[in-house]
Amino acid sequence: MAEPCLVITVDGPGGSGKGTLARLLARRLGFHWLDSGSLYRVLALAALRRGVPLDDEQALAELARSLDVRFEATDKGEPRVLLDGEDVSRELRGEACGDAASRVAALPAVRAALLDRQRAFCKPPGLVADGRDMGTVVFPDAPVKIFLEADLEERARRRHKQLKDQGIDANLPDLLDELAKRDERDRNRPVAPLRPAPDATILDSTRMSIDEVLERALELVSRVQPQPR
Ligand code: C5P
Repeated sequence: MAEPCLVITVDGPGGSGKGTLARLLARRLGFHWLDSGSLYRVLALAALRRGVPLDDEQALAELARSLDVRFEATDKGEPRVLLDGEDVSRELRGEACGDAASRVAALPAVRAALLDRQRAFCKPPGLVADGRDMGTVVFPDAPVKIFLEADLEERARRRHKQLKDQGIDANLPDLLDELAKRDERDRNRPVAPLRPAPDATILDSTRMSIDEVLERALELVSRVQPQPR
């Protein structure tokens, strides 16, 4: 019998800390990690570079199917993304890619084209998948689903700090504005909108440290799979 893959989904808006949580959880549990936002970002970057209009649904879906993208870890264990063999990790984090990603992500044919690629990340012993629709569409049978929230101001502050720490220029009021616009688009699109799955646990991390969020998440995981701590 094939070894099972336990899936933990972490969904939420930009800057909620879902990427940080998912990465720490995966490391702690020895699971694989899928940062699905990176897939939409890398598709958007490829489209911008090749001059594919961000509303040309069929061309973008075709590009999504043929995309040469690899997720790797550096020697220091930092994640990096290669597009056509080139390390584009830094470029992906900018808000220009975030905004373009949210535009292409609203197109149903694009989402359909990326579905199998995302599901292929599920390998034993398990996967932590973060994004917007991990618990609702991509892994609807996941036994642990977390929806991470935080106030818009706090999310903008976190994203600002994250970008600054990576040496990327950003302005707080602009970031707040861009995150608000992106949220609005992600929550109101007709296909796979950002919303908690009915069986998700909602965690508001506004006043929680990342360690507290991680503890809560590990508690939820231990209900389905007791872990040595
Ligand atoms: O999480 P991140 O900010 O990297 O995602 C960039 C954009 O990609 C989001 O604003 C969203 O529109 C899109 N996305 C999505 N579904 C996912 C992950 C990301 O629609 N599962």
